[in-house]
Amino acid sequence: MNSAPVVIRPIQHGDMPAYWTALDAVARERRYFTWEQGPPLPGTARFVAENIESGNPHVVALDGDHLVGWCDIVRQKRVFAHVGVLGIGIIASHRGRGIGRQLMAGAIEGAWQAGFKRVELEVYATNLNAIRLYEQLGFRHEGTKRLGARLEDELVDVHCMALLAPGLSPDEPPRGSA
Ligand SMILES: CC(C)(COP(=O)(O)OP(=O)(O)OC[C@H]1O[C@@H](n2cnc3c(N)ncnc32)[C@H](O)[C@@H]1OP(=O)(O)O)[C@@H](O)C(=O)NCCC(=O)NCCS
Repeated sequence: MNSAPVVIRPIQHGDMPAYWTALDAVARERRYFTWEQGPPLPGTARFVAENIESGNPHVVALDGDHLVGWCDIVRQKRVFAHVGVLGIGIIASHRGRGIGRQLMAGAIEGAWQAGFKRVELEVYATNLNAIRLYEQLGFRHEGTKRLGARLEDELVDVHCMALLAPGLSPDEPPRGSA
């Protein structure tokens, strides 16, 4: 058994297609993502390249040379350019070992350093493990898209959650209100 610690580091161009393989494996579980299998390889390679070039936080977890997880935070555009949308996945064999928490902590720290003010995500209400992790890291529930997704034959709620940068309190009155 390999007892070496899992290494968390920024994604590199050479991590394709191992990154896609991990993405594909988690997508095929059909319980967590919008895709039912890995998205097309060229688009995934572009996504990785754009994250590297634009400084979007995108970290991967390596168990030896096996890419077992990732977390990315993608900067939005125009009036939303202070916002990052977070995605994360760990292959099934490596869940529950603290890797997701480490990946998120690394990516979120990178987001604050890069000047993001808000990190947001959507999660299916059935994904209790992910919701617990997000809550533990300080994400707040902001609303629910009722029956917002169809997973196989089941309609499920979709929760919207977000974390603000240190010093920005979610409890302040809404800005811009009269
Ligand atoms: C959700 C996910 C990223 C968590 O990563 P992980 O490496 O398994 O989680 P960790 O071991 O770092 O655990 C962190 C926290 O997550 C929650 N959690 C993770 N696995 C859990 C489980 N089996 N039961 C209950 N809580 C769990 C707990 O809050 C845990 O903290 P704790 O150990 O202090 O209780 C991972 O399970 C995953 O990739 N799931 C499939 C893909 C997915 O859901 N992506 C997110 C879509 S929005």
